[in-house]
Amino acid sequence: MTLDNDNTVDENTAGRPASSWDLRGKRILVTGGSRGIGRGIVLAAARAGAQVITCYRQPGEAVTTLEAELAATGGKHLVVRADATKEADIAELADTVEARVGGLDAVVNNAGTYVPTPYADLDAAQWAATVDGNLTAAHLVIHRSLGLLAPGASIVNIGSTVAFIGIDGGVHYTAVKAALVGMGRSLARELGSRGIRVNTLSPGRIETEAMDDLPPQVAAFQRKMFSSFTALGRLGTVEEIAGAVLFLVSDLSTYITGQNIHVDGCV
Ligand SMILES: NC(=O)c1ccc[n+]([C@@H]2O[C@H](COP(=O)([O-])OP(=O)(O)OC[C@H]3O[C@@H](n4cnc5c(N)ncnc54)[C@H](OP(=O)(O)O)[C@@H]3O)[C@@H](O)[C@H]2O)c1
Repeated sequence: MTLDNDNTVDENTAGRPASSWDLRGKRILVTGGSRGIGRGIVLAAARAGAQVITCYRQPGEAVTTLEAELAATGGKHLVVRADATKEADIAELADTVEARVGGLDAVVNNAGTYVPTPYADLDAAQWAATVDGNLTAAHLVIHRSLGLLAPGASIVNIGSTVAFIGIDGGVHYTAVKAALVGMGRSLARELGSRGIRVNTLSPGRIETEAMDDLPPQVAAFQRKMFSSFTALGRLGTVEEIAGAVLFLVSDLSTYITGQNIHVDGCV
């Protein structure tokens, strides 16, 4: 699915009501937008007409190129340095959103971290960093955003399919990604009376630029191995995750809440 900034539909979206994928007027916060899946979500949302606010920790080329690509969409977007694991950073980010954007129609908790480690070697610091980076970060962002969320807003937490099947070296990661599902389910109940929806989106292995940073033999091995686990015989793309996120923040999914949705090619 592609949408130009002027919302011209391509042949794949022809036949749907024009408003279906139209995110104009929606204000969407995406954590961790400078690289990988988050970057794909940010750009897809901006191209679908949303006003996007995103954050990152490390300045550099990924941030400057993102800012340039966002500027090219013609919208007024915000790219802010803020660590989602730090309460003070998130408070400042929320204050900026309130002052510059006024409120939020969607929050996408994408920022996450995973350092594969055999369970026997996992130390307390790494356990804590994994909890902070994937679970506490989502909690801090949602909690601080509560007062900014418009009626009918959508929260999407990015989980992982491996939380449902397990993976060697991923006890810490799968534990916190599974926790996001429980958190989302309860939040959906608490926030439903405000019309706010909360869902988890669990990707399978996705082809991101991080894969290209691996030694070529390791990357080739991973592509082959993870592809073989799927019904579709390939890795997913950033755009395919972004498409599902756009669906969950759009008005096409207004009766979907409290769910976990796998976007994994059927692992
Ligand atoms: N890639 C996959 O195959 C896959 C599969 C299943 C689930 N996921 C999940 O999808 C999400 C994105 O994964 P990815 O592979 O795209 O990751 P990635 O390539 O490592 O990119 C992560 C992005 O988030 C930012 N970030 C990380 N921690 C942050 C924090 N505490 N505060 C603010 N920004 C932060 C990073 O920028 P800085 O480093 O500058 O902060 C970067 O922009 C994660 O939740 C991950 O667990 C990924």
